[in-house]
Amino acid sequence: MFSFPSSNQPSTEFIHYQGQRPDFHAEFLRDVESGLSATPKNIPSRYFYDHTGSQLFEAICDLKDYYPTRTEFSILKELTPELVTRFHESVPIVELGAGSSTKTQVILSAFAARLGKVDYYPIDISPSILNSSGKRITRDIPEINYHGIAADYLEGLDLVRKLPGPKLYLWLGSSIGNFTPAASIRFLSQLRSALHPQDKLLIGLDMVKEESILLQAYNDSEGTTARFNLNLLDRINRELGGHFDLDRFRHRALYNREATRIEMYLVSTERQTVALEALNRRFTFEDGEPIHTENSQKYTPDLIQELLSQSGFHRESMWTDPRQWFSVVLASRS
Ligand code: AVI
Repeated sequence: MFSFPSSNQPSTEFIHYQGQRPDFHAEFLRDVESGLSATPKNIPSRYFYDHTGSQLFEAICDLKDYYPTRTEFSILKELTPELVTRFHESVPIVELGAGSSTKTQVILSAFAARLGKVDYYPIDISPSILNSSGKRITRDIPEINYHGIAADYLEGLDLVRKLPGPKLYLWLGSSIGNFTPAASIRFLSQLRSALHPQDKLLIGLDMVKEESILLQAYNDSEGTTARFNLNLLDRINRELGGHFDLDRFRHRALYNREATRIEMYLVSTERQTVALEALNRRFTFEDGEPIHTENSQKYTPDLIQELLSQSGFHRESMWTDPRQWFSVVLASRS
């Protein structure tokens, strides 16, 4: 049985590894400084996910306008009976960016019903989310051995690659779409090099579709995506001594047709100067000047094929919904 390094004491029964991120604050500060000094200004989207941001993202997933979560869920329900038949004995299931694991529960239940005990290794940066989903999942599916890994993807992968035997990796929610095309190939290639020959990857990808549907999903009528985006400035205020006035920035999401991606921005509504105490520095924003905060790539079948082959993966199966709004691909090492 695989065991985690003893230097990282689990903080609860559901978290079996607590990652060490001693330099997170310094990294955040460095990225904000370089992003706000650049032209055009930008802040990496991974900083969205503090406690408030993670809660706002969960709320986005429930929105009527945000189709990806429920569309992917409907596909997972359809494909799971077929997926389990590809495994003849229980395999560890590793999930990257597991969040609340709500959609994953359908897969875990099916594996438990067919194969008995299942070791589940959700990797997520948020220990509080892992704790609450650990409680829920082990209560609902007693066959699940829940081994939460509170770490970033690379640190988590470094641990689980030591697990023996074939594994099933899950990377759902089109999270890959928040990477640049080059970074997504780089990361998938790193993942590929960590794989055992019989390991499989189940990955969810959001598809190119009518522009109005995409725009509505990222400019939802309840304003939740706007709050999610603006929380980034609030986080800088809380953690880096920023003096952003959230009423002087507005959320903007547009579709870049050429790059087939949604782009999110925070736009300054006037010329202003904002102090950042942690840097002892001020940044000037012109009236209408944007800060680029996120890309969300939308895929075509050809783009998926290209992404997989350039990262050393072979597509075993691909499932989609009747409108072809979202795809879930099962891939293995080519
Ligand atoms: C996490 N990620 C896949 C979401 C997306 O759709 O790109 C993040 C998000 N941004 C705005 N709404 C949701």
